[in-house]
Formats: sequence, structure tokens, C-alpha cells
Amino acid sequence: MSQGRKHIEKNPSAEQTPGAAPGSAPASAPAPSEELDLQPPRGTRDFYPDEMRRRNWLFGLFRETAGRFGFEEVDAPMVEHASLFTRKAGEEIVHQLYHFVLHDRHLALRPEMTPSLARMVIARQGAMRFPIRWFTVTQNWRYERMTRGRRREHYQWNMDIWGEPSVEAEAELLSAMFTVLDALGLARGKVKVRLNSRALLEESLRTGVLAKRPEVFAPLCVVIDKLDKIGAEAVTELLCDPAGAVGLSAGEAESVLAMLAARSLDEAARFAAPDSAALADLRRLYALLEAYGIADQVPFDASVVRGLAYYTGVVFEAFDAAGSLRAIAGGGRYDRLAETLGGKPVPAVGFGFGDAVIGELLEDEGLWPALARDVQDVVYAFSSAEKPAAIAVATRLRAAGRRVELALGTAKLKRVLGDADKAGVERVWLIGEDERARGVVKVRDLAKKMEHEEPLKG
Ligand code: HAM
Repeated sequence: MSQGRKHIEKNPSAEQTPGAAPGSAPASAPAPSEELDLQPPRGTRDFYPDEMRRRNWLFGLFRETAGRFGFEEVDAPMVEHASLFTRKAGEEIVHQLYHFVLHDRHLALRPEMTPSLARMVIARQGAMRFPIRWFTVTQNWRYERMTRGRRREHYQWNMDIWGEPSVEAEAELLSAMFTVLDALGLARGKVKVRLNSRALLEESLRTGVLAKRPEVFAPLCVVIDKLDKIGAEAVTELLCDPAGAVGLSAGEAESVLAMLAARSLDEAARFAAPDSAALADLRRLYALLEAYGIADQVPFDASVVRGLAYYTGVVFEAFDAAGSLRAIAGGGRYDRLAETLGGKPVPAVGFGFGDAVIGELLEDEGLWPALARDVQDVVYAFSSAEKPAAIAVATRLRAAGRRVELALGTAKLKRVLGDADKAGVERVWLIGEDERARGVVKVRDLAKKMEHEEPLKG
């Protein structure tokens, strides 16, 4: 939990800030020694119009797709009680929390959306008509070690289904994810979703490692999740660390790692009981994915367990096929989260799809569309005497639903026309002394390169 403070520790006076001194009054102004830094804090972004257009385009696609699957958008505060996020399984996300104490309340910027959704479901659990299908597009905060596509704030599109225990929910969610990938122009094959089931691993370990200590399963998954990053040897060391949360014997660790090598359901079946419910679920899920036409895009991979403690069943992660980037999206089933937070049990499954990694992939593939300014008409008055007439024209066009830029001050016509052309403006409305005297406005159609006149009073 101390990492979220790193960014203020350079300045000793920051010890007076709420994050550093629980219960203290909030600092109202920077301390005199604190230099004004006009860069956004490291790992965060400004969105200038170019970037904002891309963001809106991407989020529009998220919203459009979620709507097509019958999901409704919800939102929650960006600041939550820190305790909503603090879990004890050793997850990175907990150590990356941006958190602070303000007026004796320990608060945190949300690092992810799922706990907030759980809180919202629990608050109205009795009145909910399950299953519910919710989606969100929110900014999340994690004090991360930065790599390509990994930032300290990122936006996430989440789709979650609450109240549906069958893998039909997983299949529907994966189909929604591929609908967006297709719409982004990432032709089949450029992104793969690796999928596994934590329940399968849990079942297999129930008679051995987990027989006496079922509670070590979540920390065990958190450690296994590091396999790609730190390798088998380091993972074994963590699993066997007597002071760690898992504490396996060397033989147990070896058998766990052997299970993770399975790359097909038939290979996985060798470790599973003949009547394994988790394996039956996976077979059913793949049959459904076949019906959606995406089964071949979703390879089974027993090493995928995800780094968040709350997952209980199917888990999946989307990667670019070349494997050059971090995960594009990740999700899974988390049937016990509501209970863990004090609610009644309710099954749930969902995914989070970030904006940053997909942005890098679209850049690499040259797939960002050209997005111009969205102005349809420009209205130009040659002098201040024609301004009232220009205002009347702009007002009329705006009332008719057109997107209109009114040239301000003493803007030069040449520049206004040049900018309009670049922005793909359809028409420029010109009013000079002569037009005003005759009660008309000159309309220049930039695409057709034609001009005509219309009455000023329309
Ligand atoms: P997550 O795997 O932590 O899952 O994040 C989901 C996606 O968000 C990642 O695959 C990645 O694209 C993006 N992401 C996460 N952290 C960063 C970061 N620091 N910088 C850039 N992008 C990032 C969750 O958050 C779960 N709550 C998802 C979920 C929803 N599971 C069930 N429902």
C-alpha cells in the first residue's frame, strides 16, 4: 500500500498531505519548495482533440457493441472506500492503489471496476431481476511500473453478467469481445484469447494441496499468474517459500506446474477426475463458442489463471497474436465476490478491456481511422457590420441540428477557408456588405466547388 505514496515522497513537506498523515487536514496549496511541474503526472495522459477523437471513436464502439448485446451502462464514483479494494492474497493491484486519508476516511481511486459493481449489486440485491447485464467505460488508477501500453491511469470497457451460473454467459461475453475486435479491423488471427478454468485447477488440487488449506488457492493463483513474467523457477520458489502465503512442498509445486502445461482439454483431462464438473463446463463452453464461430480464436491454455484473487471459474486473457504487447483484455467468473464483500451469493462473470494496449496494437497495425474535426458548416462575416446576420445564420443552422463554427473576431477568410477544407467542412456561409444589402448569404459547397445564394431570413 505504500507504493501509491512514492510520487509524493520526493518532497519532505508532502508528509503533511492527507496520504502521508492519516487524519491530518488536507494541504490546501503546494508547499513553497514544491516546484510547479506543467507535465501531467508520470503515467497519466492529457487528451488533446486528436486523441480525444480517437478515444470517443473507440468508446463509441464499446458502447455500440454492448448495446447490441443488450447490456446497460452503469457508473460509480472514481473514489471509493479503500477497504473495497484491499484483499490479502498478495495481488499486485492492492499494492498499486492510489489511496489517501481525508477527514479520517481512508479512500482510494478505483484500480478496477469490479468491486464497485459488486457493491452496487449488493446494495439492491433483493430488488434485482437477475441475470443483469451491465457495462461500464471508466478510468482506473494503478501505480504501475510502466511498460508499453501499461500506464498509471487507463480506461477500461467492462462487460459483466450477474446472476447466471452457466457458461452461456462466458460465451456471450467472449462473442462481444470478438465483435469489437472485428469492428476494429483486427482480422481473425491477430488477437487470441487464451482460456482456462480455475475451477479445474482447484478441483484437481482439492485432494492434495488444498485438502487441509483451501484458503491458499487464491494466493496460489496470484503466484502462478507471474509464470510468463518471472519463469518456472522463480514461481516454484514463491510457491515453496515457507514464509509465503502458499507454502507448498517441492513435490506439490512440481505437480501444480505440470498441470499448467496442458494446452488442450484432452491434455487437461489427464489431471481431472472422470466426473469433473469444471471439465464438463469447459467442453460445453467450447461447443457454444463453436456456435458463435469463435472457438478457434480461443485456445485452451492451463497456465492462464489471472492475477486477481476473486476469480473462481473460467478465466481468459486476450493477447496480440505476435505476443509483443501486454494483455489487451482479461476476465473470468467470480462467483464468490458478492459473498466476500458481505452480500448474498450471486454468480458473476465479466471482462475488462483496456484502451491503452489496444491503442498500441491499432497504431502498429495502422488501423486507427482518420478522424477529422466534426464541423459541417462555417459561417463567415466580412466585417463587424455583418456579424448579427452571421449569428442569425449560425443560430438557424444549429437549430436545424447542423454542427456549425462561427468565425470569430477578424479571422482572415483565406485561413478560415483553408482550415474548413482540411476539416472536411461541407459548406461555408459568407456574408459581406453586398450580401447583407441584398438580404442574402453566399453558400460555398466545398466538396462540389460550387456557390449559390440563399435568403438571409430563412
Ligand atoms: P485486469 O486484467 O486487471 O482485469 O485488467 C483488464 C485490462 O485492463 C487489461 O487486460 C489491460 O488491457 C487493461 N489494464 C489493466 N491495467 C492497466 C494499466 N496499468 N495500464 C493500461 N491498461 C491496463 C480487471 O481489471 C478485472 N476487473 C476485469 C474484470 C471485469 N473481470 C471481471 N469483470
